[in-house]
Amino acid sequence: MSQEHAGTESLENLLHETRSFPPPADFAARANVTASAYEDAARDREQFWARQARELLSWSTDFTEVLDFSGAPVARWFGDGRLNAAYNAVDRHVEAGHGERVAIHFEGEPGDTRTITYADLKDEVSRAANALTDLGVRTGDRVAIYLPLVPEAVIAMLACARVGAAHSVVFGGFSAEALHARIIDAEARVVVTADGGYRRGKAMALKPAVDEAIAKGGTPVEHVLVVRRTGQDTAMTDGRDVWWDDTVATASAEHEPVAVDAENPLFILYTSGTTGKPKGIMHTTGGFLTQTAYTVRAVFDLKPETDVYWCTADVGWVTGHSYVTYGPLVNGATQVLYEGTPDTPDKDRWWQIVAKYGVTILYTAPTAIRTAMKWGEELPGRHDLSSLRLLGSVGEPINPEAWMWYRRVIGGDRAPVVDTWWQTETGAIMISPLPGVTAAKPGSAQTPLPGISADVLDEAGQPVPDGHGGYLVLTEPWPAMLRGIWGDPQRYQDTYWSRFPGKYFAGDGAKKDEDGDVWLLGRVDDVMNISGHRLSTTEIESALVSHPVVAEAAVVGAKDDTTGQAVVAFVILRAEAVERADEEGEGADVVAELRNHVAKEIGPIAKPRSILVVAELPKTRSGKIMRRLLRDVAEGRPAGDVTTLADSSVMEQISTGMSG
Ligand code: WT7
Repeated sequence: MSQEHAGTESLENLLHETRSFPPPADFAARANVTASAYEDAARDREQFWARQARELLSWSTDFTEVLDFSGAPVARWFGDGRLNAAYNAVDRHVEAGHGERVAIHFEGEPGDTRTITYADLKDEVSRAANALTDLGVRTGDRVAIYLPLVPEAVIAMLACARVGAAHSVVFGGFSAEALHARIIDAEARVVVTADGGYRRGKAMALKPAVDEAIAKGGTPVEHVLVVRRTGQDTAMTDGRDVWWDDTVATASAEHEPVAVDAENPLFILYTSGTTGKPKGIMHTTGGFLTQTAYTVRAVFDLKPETDVYWCTADVGWVTGHSYVTYGPLVNGATQVLYEGTPDTPDKDRWWQIVAKYGVTILYTAPTAIRTAMKWGEELPGRHDLSSLRLLGSVGEPINPEAWMWYRRVIGGDRAPVVDTWWQTETGAIMISPLPGVTAAKPGSAQTPLPGISADVLDEAGQPVPDGHGGYLVLTEPWPAMLRGIWGDPQRYQDTYWSRFPGKYFAGDGAKKDEDGDVWLLGRVDDVMNISGHRLSTTEIESALVSHPVVAEAAVVGAKDDTTGQAVVAFVILRAEAVERADEEGEGADVVAELRNHVAKEIGPIAKPRSILVVAELPKTRSGKIMRRLLRDVAEGRPAGDVTTLADSSVMEQISTGMSG
């Protein structure tokens, strides 16, 4: 057995990865989806998706059009059909006699639990929909949701969908500043939040950030709906703020879901791009639900009667939208929702939860797997994990050794592992093994799903032959694709469709192996991937230069054994600040202050791991910062080719500063 170490593999190592694990025979025999799905989809892609849309969803008006790409790059799927997302996720399961099935096993971080059946969920979502309506929310509006990972987050999302309003969920770890920008961009008139949530054993306040965001001004917010989670003291503004307990809990549990057009916006979700301003990725209803529901069936092999499904993502990220709220519930799944961190109160909390609820399908991120590896296999070893029958990974390339550890230690060398590639923009899984079909290779997402077309292109836009690397593109529209960037159609065109005309450029590097299987190699743009979360180098640079002591900043993602990448910043201080630091020995304070400043501007997840104060930054003659050279320094290598630098001595100064 080769050594098991954490960290991102080099391309060289990946090329030598030859292990492969065919599906166990009993798994393959009972799999929801078999190899014939590829043939079905290849015969007629559009009819394949139309079939999924009709089999997996209930439409109040059936569609006659499948795909209309005449407005490319904006697609319309099932355009003349009508449906309601909350009805599909909740009501119809109750109508089908499954009201007593558990929809959500909630486990709070302090150990409190709630069991929510589909019948309960229908009542809760209906009440919340009535309460939102009373607060003035109408079909076509936007509602911001800023909550910890509690059932009300899922309920609020579904309540928006029920009235035909789009939600914009803002991760609870984002700052008031980030929330403010997102509220304004989406023009949200209502914010749903909580007094606080539990994180590492502490009650962390959330509501004050909403107050601060609104106090900054310029938001159209009329009401704030506040869930009581921690019971901590919370300031409420008269006439604006209302408690969930006073409004939702007392509202009627009767509510007629509003049937909307298939292309009605379901949600906006902000993600970092290569420039400072986050992009509001817009998803609509029919296509998004079709593909999320299909992938839960096909990739996770979900059997709603017997499986207990757990996706560990927060609803603040796309994984929580597609694989906590919509995909599983549309399938009528029973799922676990856990509020807190994996190490509270102890580092075996996740494994305790798997054993307690008999989780059969686990979907998580490589960074979590590598952290568990670091903590040691003795911890999962304390618990009975034999219920697990399928393991999924998402968020960043999974290094083969983490994949092997996941399979052996968590999956008992028995459960298939599926490495699923997708993005906020794709809405649903695009490239992944099928667990009952594919002989899985550790570290490879392998094959575009049935009905999905992807390729790897060279610089000139030609498909690379097997055994070569290039840029990952999607060559045909897919049902869950984004319909654009909220309020900025030009940016949608420029970001995704201009690098290779007519093809969707994902921003990832990839390689095809000798079998034609796809291996993802990470981002090729100025986007970093920290613990599976996307952060933009320029966004953090803007945050740094917004601090009065900073003259200039450059940020890079440096390789990190646990988080995949870590944020490393290089800053040039203003002359006054340098003098002050020299005189008063405040150098360390400045770095601490800047780290906190980034947390305040964006959120704690964006805090640089290290900040280096430098005198100059490496720039080309045209003034572009050469991040490649800074990455060399941040990863402890000698700087590469410096011949295109305007001043070639700059790198020497920086490297000397590093070692000095
Ligand atoms: C970026 C998308 C998809 C939900 C979580 C992240 C990277 C995602 C994989 C994977 C290699 C992956 C890509 C992609 N990524 N999954 N299985 N293998 N890389 O969503 O924040 O929109 O980020 O995450 O770089 O472009 P996101």
